[in-house]
Amino acid sequence: MNNLKINGQRLWDSLMEMAQHGATPKGGVCRLALTDVDKAARDLFVRWCEEAGCAVTIDQMGNIFGRREGRDPSRAPIMMGSHIDSQPTGGKYDGIYGVLAGLEVIRTLNDAGIETAAPIEVSAWTNEEGSRFAPAMVSSGVFAGVFDLEYGLSRADLDGVSMGEELQRIGYAGAAPVGGREVGAFFEAHIEQGPILEDEGYTIGVVTDAQGQRWYEVTFTGQEAHAGPTPMGSRRDALLGAARIIDAVNRIGLAHQPNACATVGLIQASPNSRNVIPGRVFFTVDLRHPDDAVLSQMDTALRAALEQVAGEVGLRMDFEQIWYSPPVRFDEACIKAVRGAAEAEGFSHRDMVSGAGHDACYIARVAPTSMIFIPCVDGISHNEVEETTPEWVTAGGQVLLRAVLERAR
Ligand code: GLV
Ligand code: MN
Ligand code: MN
Repeated sequence: MNNLKINGQRLWDSLMEMAQHGATPKGGVCRLALTDVDKAARDLFVRWCEEAGCAVTIDQMGNIFGRREGRDPSRAPIMMGSHIDSQPTGGKYDGIYGVLAGLEVIRTLNDAGIETAAPIEVSAWTNEEGSRFAPAMVSSGVFAGVFDLEYGLSRADLDGVSMGEELQRIGYAGAAPVGGREVGAFFEAHIEQGPILEDEGYTIGVVTDAQGQRWYEVTFTGQEAHAGPTPMGSRRDALLGAARIIDAVNRIGLAHQPNACATVGLIQASPNSRNVIPGRVFFTVDLRHPDDAVLSQMDTALRAALEQVAGEVGLRMDFEQIWYSPPVRFDEACIKAVRGAAEAEGFSHRDMVSGAGHDACYIARVAPTSMIFIPCVDGISHNEVEETTPEWVTAGGQVLLRAVLERAR
């Protein structure tokens, strides 16, 4: 069992086949949660699980579980997984790598005829990205009891369509209760989505922590008016307010270095007409820091900036923090299992903090959890050019196999 190797080519081929669902002309993927392409990708994953002999369960949040039984039915499953959905201009690896690496572990155990003591499950969590439906990681959050089911199902996209409606429409509103069952351990393999591993020449990131995040939604309301006859001194331009906040958010990020990140990623101006002073602007803010105390300072700075700009420009402000995900410390034994696996396989490795949110951050609340990072080219992710290599993909899968076997013995 110590020499067991995953089939790296099969894992790579599966990634490439899966990437056809939502493929974009620039080589990336657009597979927004619960769209028809997400359904097609889910169908393929379910078929692959069944072909690997797994029993497939879908829960009420549309989370998918493929289960390979173990010798000891009293043992809780050792779980691996990530997400199938992507950003609108996403890549071929974010999320789906952790799902298909988990499937490859199961395929490898099948090929070798290995029976584990604990059952093994591969999971795909619904709407990790939080792009179509905010917040991110919502369905692993329901599984972990962070959100209730009603909250999860009622998350709506910008057109007002809810996750519950879309799960029904695509046939993934499953019957199984969400969570409330024991998980022996959870491992999530993922591309790093940043430049550190590649820059420093490491193959494996042993993820010890994930940084905290706060998400906000802001609406500035001023007054729509004609762009010509309205003098500069008598305007209440909501987009001007948003512009000042975009700059303020950037300065908040810079003022809390090292490690702070601050982003305005979504903005909608209304009526969005070139000769109308914008009367209403909706935008989002994403603040992140690994230290909760610093994240709170950033929150305070954002609130002050919003008040100040609304006053200066004469705007009404509607402001809501819609999500707070505190920093996470992963399980020491699972971290050790990943580090030990990298060591045993002879892969260079370093400990690291995840800058991105992951389903593992919520599963960590209900099960011993850690993550395995592999490098991605130039550190680019949430971008269609997101790339990694077959060697790195194989290495991460190999570490996943070893870590899982250690826990499933
Ligand atoms: C998820 O991809 C996030 O970190 O925003
Ligand atoms: Mn991801
Ligand atoms: Mn992502």
